[in-house]
Amino acid sequence: MSKIIKIRPKKVFIEIENRFPKENVNFIVNIPTSQIGGLTLLESSILVSFIKLINPKYLFEFGTYMGATSVLLASNTHKSSKIYTLDIDPKEFEKNESSVDMTKILIDDKENDNFLRNTFVSDGAKYIKNSSKKIQNKIKTILQNSLDLDPKKKKFLGKFDFIFIDGGHEYHIVKKDTENALMMLKENGIIFWHDYNSNIHDDVTKFLDEYSKNNKIYHVENTMIAFMLVGSYDNLVNEKGINNE
Ligand SMILES: C[S@@+](CC[C@H](N)C(=O)[O-])C[C@H]1O[C@@H](n2cnc3c(N)ncnc32)[C@H](O)[C@@H]1O
Repeated sequence: MSKIIKIRPKKVFIEIENRFPKENVNFIVNIPTSQIGGLTLLESSILVSFIKLINPKYLFEFGTYMGATSVLLASNTHKSSKIYTLDIDPKEFEKNESSVDMTKILIDDKENDNFLRNTFVSDGAKYIKNSSKKIQNKIKTILQNSLDLDPKKKKFLGKFDFIFIDGGHEYHIVKKDTENALMMLKENGIIFWHDYNSNIHDDVTKFLDEYSKNNKIYHVENTMIAFMLVGSYDNLVNEKGINNE
């Protein structure tokens, strides 16, 4: 049984209004891509709201894809913040390349992931390539299968304030990325997952429903964003705000 706590998007926005009562809080975002695999505007606004609330210095993204979210994070953080984003190594992938059955994307989770990997390998992170030097300088790309990521070797232990898990969607990958994220997170930090409640990627929902039995996980309604607040951020979205009324 899932113990996920559902909150409306406005419960996050209330925290912004409370924190910045005399400011119009805005953010920089590109027009969303017409292709699958990106964030909606609402999802982008939720991630940026948390950036405004915690002012993260080091951010990590599992799953770069076209780089739209890497650029979103870079565009809305302090100039000294750094965004690390990881995706598969195209050289490694080409060795085992499998063709995509286009009739099954958006239906079959494995075919969908296969499509996303192939798109990354053929097109690269075009939003990063199209961004300014200032934005590019904030983003560090890592080309490696996340299953081979060794946070200790990379000196990532306890480094990140903000981690976004949106790489491979199979159960074992989400589990491994989450285990690594926990090691990589600072004492006080936030982990986000994308594709909770997705119609395609059942494994993300299955993993988080199980994980929520022992961990306080929130799902933002009308989005596929789930998150966990760690350390002193536990009260970031206060219990009053969480009442879904
Ligand atoms: C849904 S897309 C990421 C979208 C991106 N975060 C955004 O918001 O625009 C998933 C990405 O994860 C990558 N991926 C899949 N399995 C992976 C793995 N085992 N290690 C690293 N990256 C992986 C795919 O190549 C794909 O580019």
